[in-house]
Amino acid sequence: MITHSLSTKALLDQQHQDALALFVTKDNLATDELKRVEQDFFPGLQEFMRKQKFTGAAGSSISVQIHKDGQPVQLFILGLGARPATVEQYRRACGQLIRVAERVQCTKVAVLLPQVTDVNADVQTIAKETSLITRMAAYYFDYYIAEKKQLDFDLTYVLPAADEKEFEIGFAEGAIIGDSVNEARFWVDAPAEFLNPLELASYAHKIAKKYNLAITEFKEADIVRMGMGGLAAVSKGSDRDCHLVILEYRAPVKDAPTVAFVGKGITFDSGGLSIKPAQHMETMKEDMSGAAAVLAAIDALAQLKPNVNVLAVMPLSENLPSGKATKPGDIIRFYNGVTAEVRNTDAEGRLILADALAYTVKHYKPDAIIDVATLTGACSYALGPFFTGMMSQHKELSDRVQKSADRTGDRVWPLPFDDDYKVAVKSKVADICNIGSSKYRAGAITAGFFLQHFVNDTPWVHLDIAGTAYDVPDISYYRDGATGTAIRLLIDVARSW
Ligand code: BES
Ligand code: MN
Ligand code: ZN
Repeated sequence: MITHSLSTKALLDQQHQDALALFVTKDNLATDELKRVEQDFFPGLQEFMRKQKFTGAAGSSISVQIHKDGQPVQLFILGLGARPATVEQYRRACGQLIRVAERVQCTKVAVLLPQVTDVNADVQTIAKETSLITRMAAYYFDYYIAEKKQLDFDLTYVLPAADEKEFEIGFAEGAIIGDSVNEARFWVDAPAEFLNPLELASYAHKIAKKYNLAITEFKEADIVRMGMGGLAAVSKGSDRDCHLVILEYRAPVKDAPTVAFVGKGITFDSGGLSIKPAQHMETMKEDMSGAAAVLAAIDALAQLKPNVNVLAVMPLSENLPSGKATKPGDIIRFYNGVTAEVRNTDAEGRLILADALAYTVKHYKPDAIIDVATLTGACSYALGPFFTGMMSQHKELSDRVQKSADRTGDRVWPLPFDDDYKVAVKSKVADICNIGSSKYRAGAITAGFFLQHFVNDTPWVHLDIAGTAYDVPDISYYRDGATGTAIRLLIDVARSW
């Protein structure tokens, strides 16, 4: 847990801290604070930094011990790179702050925030990113570990300027967003036996109750009766009920547009009868990362209250083999009447999303749909762990998503989404087939064209987070396991509508 407070007292006058931290750019290692440190607490500091080859490069840091008020105090100097640093460089420096503090077990830290001239952002953004990213960096999945790994940080943010109000607004926003990201990471990291469809649905109920959001829930019997043959087919092999859960946030203004966030919620993907090889199955508790993202986003948005209606739509199921499981070659009928040949039961995400999308379009007529899904290994091979695949034929909506991605750090990269690929999901025995014909390859894109049959002409963006949801290396504010990708993005899309 992180608690934070604001202070306008100079960094070096802060008392009762076990560490002091500040950011430097490559352009200036002799800031006023560091000059004062050199003078009063650490003679030869500049020489020491030179010897340690600390240049203020992005991602670098150095820590020295000083004696202050008769106590040893750690001083963390965090590099931002060339001035002005990008917001992403600042995020990673904030992540680095938490990593360094963890290493030396300092939990009471006063941090001097950077000047607006050092980071390419306004005061409110700096404040927001600071509280958001320190929270994300501090997250650790230690629920099942007796000796807790997660440190409780007590951060004091030292303001470089007097705009206290703007800082406060930013800190509060960042706290809401950071907590929601970590909540989703907990759901993803939680083992599938615990975080099953019913359990994830119960978290949705808790959030609905807390913020008085309308909630609709269909259970397996309803889903079968209503003709949602995709969700039903995927669930047949599981002893647990599937669910379709829909949360609604209502904007405080009249006639607001509605955006629907639809998230894939496979709480475990074994592949079904088209069973996965053992290694590919190891992390498949992550296959509900899309549902976690839309649920966490609406949790944050219920607090941030944007002027747009928001739906979070979550088809929840397990994909398991059994004597009752759907078989390769089976033909199913979805909620909108479209039929599909299930050639491979491991291409299950598109089957549950198909019904969720069709239901959303029919009953809510949203002005836009963004779906988020750990949909294809192909996407993860194409883009690796740092960019989510974005597919859309709607320029205006995909521009919005691209802008939110650039602002928030949940990066996306457009894949070609041309009608030429459409024929890849044709079937000889049904309207469409759940795997693309091998001659078209491009598995991420053909999966997108499968989903296209269920959105009609609603403006729609498909985000494939298979590569970005879990085990993303080298980014200081992530750890092994869930990243909470796309949550910051979805929140920004709604708030900037
Ligand atoms: N959940 C997987 C995709 C995935 C792979 C997510 C790796 C995260 C990491 C999805 O259900 C799946 O199995 N997709 C198949 C589709 C194929 C059978 C057409 C795949 O990508 O292999
Ligand atoms: Mn699968
Ligand atoms: Zn899957």
